[in-house]
Amino acid sequence: MTSISKRKFDLDDYLKRRSATVDRALEGYLGKYPGASQTIFRAMRYGIFPGGKRIRPILMLASGELFGAAESRLLPFACAVEMIHAYSLIHDDLPGLDDDDLRRGEPAAHKVFGEGMALLAGDGLLAEAFHVISDTESTCAVSAELAVKIIRELSHSAGVMGLVGGQALDLEAEGQEVDLATVEMIHVRKTGALILASVRIGALVAGAAGEDLIRISHYGEYLGLAFQIADDILDAQGGIAVGERAESSHKERKKATYPSVVGIVTAKERLTELLRLLLSALDRYEMQAEPLRAMARYIVGRAVDIGGESLKKETHG
Ligand code: IPE
Ligand code: IPE
Ligand code: MG
Ligand code: MG
Repeated sequence: MTSISKRKFDLDDYLKRRSATVDRALEGYLGKYPGASQTIFRAMRYGIFPGGKRIRPILMLASGELFGAAESRLLPFACAVEMIHAYSLIHDDLPGLDDDDLRRGEPAAHKVFGEGMALLAGDGLLAEAFHVISDTESTCAVSAELAVKIIRELSHSAGVMGLVGGQALDLEAEGQEVDLATVEMIHVRKTGALILASVRIGALVAGAAGEDLIRISHYGEYLGLAFQIADDILDAQGGIAVGERAESSHKERKKATYPSVVGIVTAKERLTELLRLLLSALDRYEMQAEPLRAMARYIVGRAVDIGGESLKKETHG
């Protein structure tokens, strides 16, 4: 059943449809400011439109739908997670952090709007995320109790135990010799936490609990780590995945990454192992989990050849 549905699942079409839906919903939140021509609004919009891959909101939709939530209930939360992601990228590119001039092949926000305005645009998106999901009108399908639980989960993933803490460790590790455990901790926090929160929040909106929540959390943890390893392999190879634009200008900096610590070959082996774990976390689910399986293959497959045969074995394993 799994291998048949795998062949039939059209990920390109799925990603296109889902990102268009997310974009429309984001437009609903970020297109309606009074005086939207003000620079700060333009800078916030610049950071989020035209979008990237919309991986996190799409993961949230896929996870929520696996456990039976309707798209309309998930969308406010999906938009919030993308706003947080967009803020993190605007700040990540600033001279005080990665000092990148390019983002998604275009000038980074601070190159267009200046550092001060880029800083504020990031702050604005972060605050807006929580504004959106605490709005009882747009999240009316979720109880106040669940809304608070989700806000707590999302703020934890964005905070010092998650994204911000990971970025701080990443900054401190620059130019230092670091071991693999440190690299993993950086990845799990700076990138993994928001991805984990995305799939968990989707499941929570759907009312998932117990073993379902444990399994989807395992999937989120593996995927968060896999995502950053894949991104770093692509960076290290100076390459970009097929069909994607160059992500950044790749200034020469010594970053703590999987490939820089263990080498490309071992990094790729680890990615392949993570794909096996990702697929086995979803073993229990049938066709409804196909979007999550396909997303895992896509994220890993951007950086590693996951060839048909070995994949089939993994899928059935
Ligand atoms: C890039 O994330 C930053 C990392 C966490 C590695 P994405 O690759 O999801 O960025 P966009 O939004 O698609 O450009
Ligand atoms: C980005 O990590 C992680 C966050 C923004 C939290 P990187 O710095 O490795 O990602 P890119 O290469 O700039 O997209
Ligand atoms: Mg960075
Ligand atoms: Mg960066």
